[in-house]
Amino acid sequence: MQLKVVTTKPTKSNVDMVAVGVAEGKLTKAAGLTSFAKGIREWAVARAKEQGFEGKRGQTLELALPGSSSPHWLLLVGLGKGPHPVAACRELGFRAVSAVRRQSTLYIALPATTGQELQVAATSALLGTYRYDAYRTASAPRKSKLRSIQLGVIAEIPDSKQAIHRATVIADATAKARDLVNMPPNDLTPTALAETAKSWAKELGLTCKVLGKAQLQKERMELFLAVSRGSAQAPQLIHTVYAPKGAKKKVVLVGKGLTFDAGGLCIKPAKSMVDMKCDMGGAATTLGAMHAIAQLGLPIEVHAIVGAAENMTGASAYRPGDVFKARSGKTVEIINTDAEGRLVLADVLDYACELKPDVIVDHATLTGACMVALGHHTAGLFSNRSELAEQYKEAACLAGESFWQLPLDRDLRKVLDSPIADLKHCGDGYGGSITAALFLEEFVGQCPWVHNDIAGPAFLDSAHKDQPKGGTGFGVATAVAFVEQLASQEV
Ligand code: BES
Ligand code: MN
Ligand code: ZN
Repeated sequence: MQLKVVTTKPTKSNVDMVAVGVAEGKLTKAAGLTSFAKGIREWAVARAKEQGFEGKRGQTLELALPGSSSPHWLLLVGLGKGPHPVAACRELGFRAVSAVRRQSTLYIALPATTGQELQVAATSALLGTYRYDAYRTASAPRKSKLRSIQLGVIAEIPDSKQAIHRATVIADATAKARDLVNMPPNDLTPTALAETAKSWAKELGLTCKVLGKAQLQKERMELFLAVSRGSAQAPQLIHTVYAPKGAKKKVVLVGKGLTFDAGGLCIKPAKSMVDMKCDMGGAATTLGAMHAIAQLGLPIEVHAIVGAAENMTGASAYRPGDVFKARSGKTVEIINTDAEGRLVLADVLDYACELKPDVIVDHATLTGACMVALGHHTAGLFSNRSELAEQYKEAACLAGESFWQLPLDRDLRKVLDSPIADLKHCGDGYGGSITAALFLEEFVGQCPWVHNDIAGPAFLDSAHKDQPKGGTGFGVATAVAFVEQLASQEV
C-alpha cells in the first residue's frame, strides 16, 4: 500500500474517492467538504438528509458525485458527538479504507494536527484491509483494489514521515499478531510458535533461545511443566533478545502462550472451548511488539519471553490436589487445572526477574472474570507501582487502546492460602482477575511490573470498529508506545 501525507485539497488530489469525517449534526461544517464547489456541497448535504445520515458514530454514506471530474466518489464518515481527535483519526482511517471496494485510490481528509494523531489514522487505515485468508482454498472473496492512500491534513505536520514509518511498522506487527492468534491450534503448536519467533528473530538480527522440556526441567519450572503434561505437544519457553548498543534501560515483555486451552482435567464446556486457540494472544502481542520495537530501532534493551504450552487432558495431565514447586521455590497446590495461565507465567516471570529489568510487562488472556468486569474492548491493567501504571495508561491513550486499572487488592490475598502448601493458585471465584494478578505478584518480587489481562480484547466474536472478528493484536501499539516513551525519558 502506498501511503503519503499531503496538504493538497481533496478536489485537487486526483483520486477515485475522498473520505470526509463528519461530527454528529455538523455536516455543513465538515472541514473536508469546504474545498468542494458550493453546488456539490449542497447536493451532498441534501443526499445525506434523504438517507438519514447525521454523522452518528459508525454511520457512513457513499455518494457517487455528479460530473465526470475526479473524485468520483465521496464518502461521509460519521464520527459521533464531540469526537476526541485520536479516536476520530482512528475511526476515519479505518472506515474509509473498509468502505473502498472498486476504487484504487483514496484521499482521507483528516483532522490530525499532531504526529501521534497522524500515526493512529495511518495505522488504522493500513489495518483496514486486514483479513485472514490463509486457510481458504476457494478464490479469496472480494479483495479490496485499493493501492494508494493520501492522508490529507490542513497544515504541514512536523515529523509526518516518521509518523507514517511508525504506523507502517506497527500495523505490520499488529497484523502479524492477528495472524498468529487466528492460526488454527493444530498448526500453531508451541513448537510452531517457537519456530515463528526464531524466524522473526533471524529476519530482524535478534537472538532467540528456545528451552524445551529437558531445559525447563533443568530450570526447575515445575509449574510450567505441570500444565503441559496432559498434552502430546512439548512445552517451549521462547526468549528473544533485542540489545541495541548503548541501551540504558531494560524491559522484559512476557506473554502467555497457551496454543490451546481445553481446561485440562477441569475441562471446559464445548462452548467455552471453541475459541481457545486465542489463549496465546499474550504471546502474539509480546512477539508482535518485539517485532515493531526492533524494526523501529528503539534505544532500549528488550527481551520477549513467551511460555508456550497446550492445556489438555492426556493420561499424564496434572490434577487438582497436586502440589508442585515453582522455579522460585514456592510450593503451589493445584485447585482448578483450567487456571493454567498463571502457573506458566509464574515460572516465566521468575525467570524474567533474574534479568533484573527496569520493568516487566506481561500480556495474558488470563481470566474470564476480566471479561465479565470490563467486556470485550478493554484490558485489565495491574501494577505493583502506581507511577508505572499511570505511565502505561498514558501510552495506551497515545496508541488509542483501552486499558482500565484494577487493584492488586491485598485484602484478597488470603483466598490463596493453602492448607498444605505455600499457596493455592486460585481463589473462590470472586474478584477472579484480581486474585490471578495477586498470584502472579508472588513471583515478581520487587521488580516493577505491569500485568495486562487481555482475555476480553485479544479475540472478538464479531468485528468492532477497526478490530476484526477473531484475533485483534490488541496491546501491540500500546506496548510499543510505552517503550518509546521510556526511550525518550531521561535516565
Ligand atoms: N484462558 C482462560 C481465560 C479466558 C477465558 C481467556 C475466556 C479468553 C476468553 C483461562 O485459562 C481460564 O480458563 N481461566 C479460568 C480461571 C478459573 C478456573 C479460576 C476462568 O477464567 O474461568
Ligand atoms: Mn484455562
Ligand atoms: Zn487459559
